[in-house]
Amino acid sequence: MTDFEKEINRRRTFAIISHPDAGKTTLTEKFLLYGGAINLAGSVKGKATARHAVSDWMEIEKERGISVTSSVLQFEYGGYCINILDTPGHQDFSEDTYRTLMAADSAVMVIDASKGVEAQTRKLFKVCVMRKIPIFTFINKLDRDANDTFELLDEIEKELGIATCPVNWPIGSGKRFQGVYDRDRQCVITYSDTEKGTKEGESVEVPACDSKALGAVIGEEAAGTLIGEIELLDGASAEFDLGLVRAGELTPVFFGSALTNFGVEFFLRHFLEMATTPLPRKADKGLIAPAENEFSAFVFKIQANMNKAHRDRIAFMRICSGKYEASMEVKHMQGGKVMRLSQPQQIMASERKILEEAYAGDIIGVFDPGIFSIGDTLCMPKEQFCYEGIPTFAPEHFARVRQVDTMKRKQFVKGITQIAQEGAIQIFQEFNTGMEEIIVGVVGVLQFDVLKYRLENEYNVEIKLENLPYEHIRWIENKDVDLDRLIGTSDMKKIKDLKGNPLLLFVNAWSVGMTLDRNEGLILSEFGRG
Ligand code: G4P
Repeated sequence: MTDFEKEINRRRTFAIISHPDAGKTTLTEKFLLYGGAINLAGSVKGKATARHAVSDWMEIEKERGISVTSSVLQFEYGGYCINILDTPGHQDFSEDTYRTLMAADSAVMVIDASKGVEAQTRKLFKVCVMRKIPIFTFINKLDRDANDTFELLDEIEKELGIATCPVNWPIGSGKRFQGVYDRDRQCVITYSDTEKGTKEGESVEVPACDSKALGAVIGEEAAGTLIGEIELLDGASAEFDLGLVRAGELTPVFFGSALTNFGVEFFLRHFLEMATTPLPRKADKGLIAPAENEFSAFVFKIQANMNKAHRDRIAFMRICSGKYEASMEVKHMQGGKVMRLSQPQQIMASERKILEEAYAGDIIGVFDPGIFSIGDTLCMPKEQFCYEGIPTFAPEHFARVRQVDTMKRKQFVKGITQIAQEGAIQIFQEFNTGMEEIIVGVVGVLQFDVLKYRLENEYNVEIKLENLPYEHIRWIENKDVDLDRLIGTSDMKKIKDLKGNPLLLFVNAWSVGMTLDRNEGLILSEFGRG
């Protein structure tokens, strides 16, 4: 294997998904700790400092009281080079969150052990399933009272429709949390609450077959329960199968406590062994293999105005093949131009580092003078191919937008179109009218505020938003559908996107089903064509 191949093979690029508060940030911080990217030891303010550092480059967004970005972090551990793509939760949940998953090779799903599968996890999970990427589950907060372990697994299987395979198994929870049983090595690793979770605790390992020794360490009652559960588990759960894991059909499940740093390194080690190296990507001329091709990348996210002073735009791209070297010339396929990428940087912790080189699997951010769009391809000047587009994800909130001062029509259209181009919002029109009536669709409601704020501050246009009751949007997959003859429901609204494609809006899911029933052969999709 050449050094070049080795560099690519040691890369692991994954996204972390969870419902807000499940512990994604805490887990990420612990990963970074192992990677030596941050140093928390002995610091009382450790967590706060680390959190600050991680999201420091988003300070501008914070000043504005909104956070609209996902960050990318890179660190080294055990010979691996790891790229973590953070998917923001809370109200700042947006299409970016979904798109980030398009740039990852696998996903880590963090679940709060006392809450189980929650709404946001479900949404993100759908995208992972669509992409068939491996999903690894970390069930967190075992230091607090947790739901029954079998029920948690059952919920994942039923709600998300993926088979589970526990790699370890918790012994009690909350005050009675005693550690985990490692199914592979058939031994118990005891829990110790470490000093503010700054390092992995001193664990004792006891072989589970020695019930006397086990009882002496975790107590006879707990030992009895554990042995019973293991028997049940061995009989009932899916066998571990790496092929199924990599196909996204089986999720390995790990238990731990990110806050007290228990089970985190165990997870990291196993995850790195099971997760895939950067995967080949589909392009119009076939699959592009990471190590067999020269540099190529696609844009998955555009971030505007990260630096207030410069009003710049950063295009984030995922390198899909080859190696990027400083000042090399690349071709922007959609623009048809050969160019040098300007100020390529890796966004790491608090600093933006100018890059000398980067490999397939890595994410780079480049200065965008307004030429890139989401889904664009970059490759070597002699090459000629485009990566598959990124699907448009279904917005769930809609509003009609009007500008307050009708004289500012031009700025309004320019502003809203540019913001839509960045992918923060989607814009639609009434089916039979022109641009005068604009309907905006967003994935998370915060995007409405972002839109209003940005139009006022960057384009000097004041707008009024009137919320619409629709929650479901469907793209029509049939090529030649006559919208006038479509039999819908009374709550259905026909709109079109900027390319003129017809779409349908519905207030509830029932109406979607009803419309499908009433129109034989109609095919509706939740994802738009990229
Ligand atoms: P998120 O990024 O998924 O939104 O979650 P985050 O890590 O911010 O964690 C949410 C809250 O849950 C935090 O508490 C965090 O300390 C806590 N937490 C995370 N992992 C564990 C765990 O393993 N055990 C326990 N008991 N708590 C955990 P907070 O009080 O909201 O924030 P903070 O004041 O501690 O920063």
